Amino acid sequence: MRAAVCRLFLLLLLLLLLLLLPPPPAAAYFGLTGKEALTHFPSLGTSTNSAQGKAHMKQCDLLKLSRKQKRLCRREPGLAETLRDAIRLGIMECQFQFRSERWNCSLEGRTSLLKRGFKETAFLYAVSSAALTHSLARACSAGRMERCTCDDSPDLENRKAWQWGVCGDNLKYSTKFLKKFLGQKRIGKDLRAKVDIHNTNVGIKAVKNGLKTTCKCHGVSGSCAVRTCWKQLSPFHEIGRLLKLRYDDAVKVFSTTNDAVGHSELASPQRHSHSTKHHASPRATDLVYVEDSPSFCRPSKYSLGTAGRTCSREGNCDSMCCGRGYNTQSHLVTFSCHCQVQWCCYVECQQCMQEEVVYSCKQ
Ligand SMILES: *[C@@H]1O[C@H](CO)[C@@H](O)[C@H](O)[C@H]1NC(C)=O
Repeated sequence: MRAAVCRLFLLLLLLLLLLLLPPPPAAAYFGLTGKEALTHFPSLGTSTNSAQGKAHMKQCDLLKLSRKQKRLCRREPGLAETLRDAIRLGIMECQFQFRSERWNCSLEGRTSLLKRGFKETAFLYAVSSAALTHSLARACSAGRMERCTCDDSPDLENRKAWQWGVCGDNLKYSTKFLKKFLGQKRIGKDLRAKVDIHNTNVGIKAVKNGLKTTCKCHGVSGSCAVRTCWKQLSPFHEIGRLLKLRYDDAVKVFSTTNDAVGHSELASPQRHSHSTKHHASPRATDLVYVEDSPSFCRPSKYSLGTAGRTCSREGNCDSMCCGRGYNTQSHLVTFSCHCQVQWCCYVECQQCMQEEVVYSCKQ
């Protein structure tokens, strides 16, 4: 009997040990293969925590900013690091969302793309401004910036949350700052400038709409005698997914003169209407574009083309490879299997092999 109890105890200990062991690479949890587009960018390495005085100024100089932006950056300790985080966040999310599209959001060709008015340009503007808004709001609540703190909206719930030491993500500050930083005051006559501003605002709005109020109960055994609430941003993946949907439904626009107001504005052909005479303004949530995109099949100044891209045979090979066909390659992958707990106290596994087939687009 005693031996049994002892065994049970040891088994529990073992379980605990297993829980404490370093987890397998995160990729395994999400069924990722490790070949996904979520790569890091060496030129935008993680921020070093040396943001003191001079070091901060230097960080600002490393970023490609306008004069006014540089001035704002220098005035705001913590901003340069946050901007860099935001750039990386935006790129990673873009590459994740476009991992199985012909245009995979690679950095090649980005400069040329940003000069045009494609749907892809629209997505880049929106995802970048969303990432900036998100990162700034997070940085405020995490105390990484000197000039802003938690969400300090004057509503009562929020102040209570403050007392409990719960910090809301400061979206109000980040939105205000971002508009100043991007210099959106003057709305140009130029169609492209309007389109860029519109798409930038779509990104900001996507973050704002994802704001959730989270509450927590306090009191004797969850009686919820006191409830504190705070505002929390949704994970950036959710915002990325939303923007990708908006990209799929992006609206083509042109410039029209509004006679009543006397200045030009964006217009799209009226949806759900066969009459071409009627125009409608695009909705504030629509991504808008002015030019049809190239196919991205072949190398161009916008992308490297799709030769060599991996695709899934049941899924997107036909469209990804643009009808050129694909190569099939199989290789063996090894993984741990038939794992058994050995007495006492380790796990023994065998190495199993499995054939994996990879499809990739022909030249
Ligand atoms: C995008 O596709 C190109 C080939 O067209 C490839 O070289 C590149 O690594 C891909 N980029 C990402 C981030 O997946």
